[in-house]
Parts: sequence; structure tokens; C-alpha cells
Amino acid sequence: MKTEPKALALMGSPRAGGATARLLTCFIDQWRAFNLGAVTVVEAYKAALAPCTHCGYCGKQLGCVYDDGFTAIDAGLREADFLVVASPVYGMGFPAPLKAVFDRCQRYFEAKFSLGAANPIPKRKSALFLAAFGSKDGRGVEMMREQLRYTFLLVNAVLEKTVAAANTDRLPLDMEAAEREIQSAIRAAVSRWQNEGGPP
Ligand SMILES: Cc1cc2nc3c(=O)[nH]c(=O)nc-3n(C[C@H](O)[C@H](O)[C@H](O)COP(=O)(O)O)c2cc1C
Repeated sequence: MKTEPKALALMGSPRAGGATARLLTCFIDQWRAFNLGAVTVVEAYKAALAPCTHCGYCGKQLGCVYDDGFTAIDAGLREADFLVVASPVYGMGFPAPLKAVFDRCQRYFEAKFSLGAANPIPKRKSALFLAAFGSKDGRGVEMMREQLRYTFLLVNAVLEKTVAAANTDRLPLDMEAAEREIQSAIRAAVSRWQNEGGPP
């Protein structure tokens, strides 16, 4: 019996009604409209993970010296077929609580290169990057996409699409355009699963 694909969303905005939240809600609505499985949302500000301190623990044994909210994120990353990173641009980068989530993924680098694990997160997943930035300067999104390239390698994710809402501090969001882009990212994942024999 085939199982439904699972989506994990890492939410980097603290604002419930903000532009990032609206993009993420649009994704959740579309995921449901496609009749796909559950979406688990991790709110980085609520998870408030301890930042990586490069203590060396994960280079000597699997896991992390901290027993905190990353345990659930780790389980989510292992199960997920689709990963969403939803984030505002803060100072040309990720807000600190979300950056902490990414830095804690260093355990997968150590698992592979210090401990010899072949593939620390075996399940390959499609990914979507949702971003919102207040200005017209899109360089922050470009830099964040570069940062994600590293983290996505660690968690076995393939970026299907970036949907970025610009000028959010001045202009209303173009939700129709965002919805079309999000639908196309979901379609790309579904067609990848069909071609690669993954989830339905
Ligand atoms: C601490 C902070 C730093 C920001 N840095 C940038 C920036 O570098 N570039 C930019 O275009 N907007 C910047 N903004 C504006 C936010 O990206 C924008 O308001 C965005 O819509 C916030 O996301 P939200 O609506 O989901 O909360 C910054 C806002 C804050 C609070």
C-alpha cells in the first residue's frame, strides 16, 4: 500500500499575519487541494533551538549534545517527502532562530564525513523556498538560496522552486502569482515522484 507524501515546513517568521505566513498558508492550501498528505509546521521562533556550538559531540557519535526541539525536526526530516523553508529576509539572510535550525543540521555533515554514515537522511525530498522581503533588493533571497544549497545537501533535499514576494513593506502581496508558482513546485515534485517511483 502506498503512503501519502508528507510535507515538513520550517517557518522562519515570528509574525502570524505577515507575508511569509500568507505564502505558507497558500502552500498548505495547495498541498491539500492536490490531495496530498499531512503538513507539519515547525515554527523556528517557538522551537527556539540552542545554536550549534561546534562542541564536537556529533563528530564522535550520532546525534547531538542538545536534547531539544531538534529531535522532532530530525524525525520530520527523515520522514518528509517535501520540505518547505518559509522565511522573511532579515539583514540579507535568515532570521536567527531559523539559522539555528540549519546550523544544527551540521550533525549530518559529521555523520557522513567523520562517522562514515553513507546517507544520514536516506529519504530524498523535493523542496520549496518561500521568501518575503520588504525592499526591492532581491540579493538577500539569492544569498539565502546559496545558504540553502548547503543545508539541502545535508538533508537530501532538491530545490524545486523559489517563490519570493518583494517589496512587502510597501506593496500588497500578489497572491495569485504566488499560488501559481507554488502549484508549479508541487507539480514538479509529483512528477519527480512519478519518474523516480517515490510517493504517489
Ligand atoms: C530585523 C529585520 C531585518 C530586515 N532586513 C531586510 C533586508 O535585509 N532586506 C529586505 O528587503 N527587507 C528586510 N526586512 C523587511 C522584511 O523582510 C519584510 O518586512 C518581510 O515582509 C517580513 O516578513 P513577514 O511579513 O513574514 O514578517 C527586515 C525586517 C526586519 C524586522
